[in-house]
Amino acid sequence: MGLTFIKLGGSLITNKRSLIPAPNMKKIELIADDLAAIVRERRLILANGAGSFGHPLARKYGISEGLKDNKLGISKTCLSVDELNRLVVRSLIKRGVPAVSISPRSIVHGTSDGFIMYRETVLMMIERRLVPVMYGDVVCDQERGVAIFSGDDVPLQFAEELDTAIFLVDVPGVLNDEGRLIRKLVSGEAVVSEMESLSFDVTGGMKKKLSIAKELARKGVRVIIAGFEERGDLIRILNGERGTLIA
Ligand SMILES: Nc1ncnc2c1ncn2[C@@H]1O[C@H](COP(=O)(O)OP(=O)(O)OP(=O)(O)O)[C@@H](O)[C@H]1O
Ligand SMILES: [Mg+2]
Repeated sequence: MGLTFIKLGGSLITNKRSLIPAPNMKKIELIADDLAAIVRERRLILANGAGSFGHPLARKYGISEGLKDNKLGISKTCLSVDELNRLVVRSLIKRGVPAVSISPRSIVHGTSDGFIMYRETVLMMIERRLVPVMYGDVVCDQERGVAIFSGDDVPLQFAEELDTAIFLVDVPGVLNDEGRLIRKLVSGEAVVSEMESLSFDVTGGMKKKLSIAKELARKGVRVIIAGFEERGDLIRILNGERGTLIA
């Protein structure tokens, strides 16, 4: 049985334009409904984004600039992202999904060569049919003191094990200049010239997501960036009926 990664985008499960944490519980519950159906047929590894629980604090405390006089800000940001993850995990458990939270800061650190994750713990959980749920977090970094590890960064750590990676966002997928959905994006193809997120994103927004998606696709993972409107959408996305396929 293949391994599927699904990221619940912060843009989707929170109001990302809010400067204070604002979860979208309705959306979290609907996605959890679908995940409860999917978990019977697939091994899952999940991540949730930070949305308004992370980006405004990370910006306020200059966390992407590294470690400076911002230690208490780091603590506050960690506590806030923990809280959103807890909401996600709780709604999964309520539906019988054996979800377990893993904070990236306890198994990931940054180096000049990128992030290093102690993967064994996560893989052992998956082997036991538990469902790890990671999230956007602050991690230690050898060069900068601290760095932001995004939920988008999770699948690259498991590229060899994954057969599918799905990034759920608050738009129907990757959009062209006219705002229309691109159904299939061939790697190497430059699509959208300027892709600035409408909301503030300290981890690079859609641009960075796309570069991760392309790297995963190159490694043979089926990658889809898609929206989520109603119950059943996740199943439709897995069936290839929704979103943008990054080929
Ligand atoms: N060409 C594009 N196609 C689709 N979305 C785009 C495009 N250009 C910019 N965006 C923006 O990218 C956003 C999604 O990326 P963003 O990082 O904000 O969400 P997220 O990853 O779900 O949130 P988080 O980082 O909190 O998990 C969309 O809300 C949209 O405004
Ligand atoms: Mg993002």
